[in-house]
Amino acid sequence: MAVCPISITFAPMKRILFICLGNICRSPMAETIMKKIVDEMGRNQDFEIDSAGLISYHEGEGADPRMKAHASRRGYRITHLSRPIRERDFRHFDLIIGMDDSNIDRLKRLSPDLETDQKIHRMTDFCIEKVVDHVPDPYYGGSQGFENVIDILEDACQGLFQWINESCTPPNS
Ligand code: 4NP
Repeated sequence: MAVCPISITFAPMKRILFICLGNICRSPMAETIMKKIVDEMGRNQDFEIDSAGLISYHEGEGADPRMKAHASRRGYRITHLSRPIRERDFRHFDLIIGMDDSNIDRLKRLSPDLETDQKIHRMTDFCIEKVVDHVPDPYYGGSQGFENVIDILEDACQGLFQWINESCTPPNS
């Protein structure tokens, strides 16, 4: 069996920051799902999980009421308050995960150096079952869009948790 050259097992903390445009729909939902998985696996002490937006328009607001309602029906409670990404986030977090290619492009423009560029990943690259290349923005759409966000994020968060625990190389890279 190949020996992993970098042992994630011994990393003291895996710091994950989920990013979307407004930080009121997709990324706070991803944060909430990931926290639940980590909690259920008894791994709270190993992780720091947060989310942020690329715009500050909704700063200080709770998640969109539609996102909260769909989350609640599926057993999640979103408590995050929207905040914009800050330069220090690029240093503090180990993984910075965007929801679509527009998020990724903007993150790469904001990233201060090559080292922090390496931390940026696309959420759907962690999917196990879903064959999708982005988490569609549900903000201007209907109910089904919010359900679709949760479906994709549940799959991608499971894949992300598995990857952190089992592997060394990012999926699809
Ligand atoms: P999110 O959705 O990026 O998933 O939080 C959006 C929220 C707000 C806006 C756009 C997308 N907005 O234009 O205000």
